[in-house]
Amino acid sequence: MKLLTRNRLRFSRPGESSPMCGRRDGYNNFFVGWFCLSLESDEVAEIGFRLRRDAWGKGYASEAALALVNWGFETADVAKVIACTMATNSGSRRVMEKIGMKYVRTIPFEAAHFPGTEQGEVWYELTRSEWGRT
Ligand SMILES: CC(C)(COP(=O)(O)OP(=O)(O)OC[C@H]1O[C@@H](n2cnc3c(N)ncnc32)[C@H](O)[C@@H]1OP(=O)(O)O)[C@@H](O)C(=O)NCCC(=O)NCCS
Repeated sequence: MKLLTRNRLRFSRPGESSPMCGRRDGYNNFFVGWFCLSLESDEVAEIGFRLRRDAWGKGYASEAALALVNWGFETADVAKVIACTMATNSGSRRVMEKIGMKYVRTIPFEAAHFPGTEQGEVWYELTRSEWGRT
């Protein structure tokens, strides 16, 4: 699938997520979800993703997230990519692991409380030196 082409990739502006369109499995140019890679500092970028429900389970999140991570290291020259999700979000955690990110910590969830937030928010990261070893 070509969710992304290199020349379309760029850092997200503050508060922005880029809409993403798929090009296979019936998603030919249809909206699949949002992805973002935001600069947190000169050397650290945070990745995020959210897909429409009928696009789940087709590998789209892993493929697009990996493309963004690769772009971050290869082209944008960041030193580290980080990501976070609710501890209970097994699908999102699996995507992070599939693209080579490592769990680093759990912290209290500070936004609105709803079922699962009591288990906190998990942080993952991938450093430049770890990237490519997976
Ligand atoms: C989380 C999300 C982005 C995953 O997107 P996706 O395109 O389905 O992800 P992929 O198909 O690339 O991979 C999902 C992986 O998680 C696994 N998975 C999904 N749900 C799971 C669950 N409840 N428990 C364990 N593993 C799960 C899948 O089996 C797959 O792993 P595998 O390839 O080893 O089988 C999508 O479900 C989503 O947008 N959810 C709602 C919003 C959200 O949670 N966003 C992330 C906030 S940080």
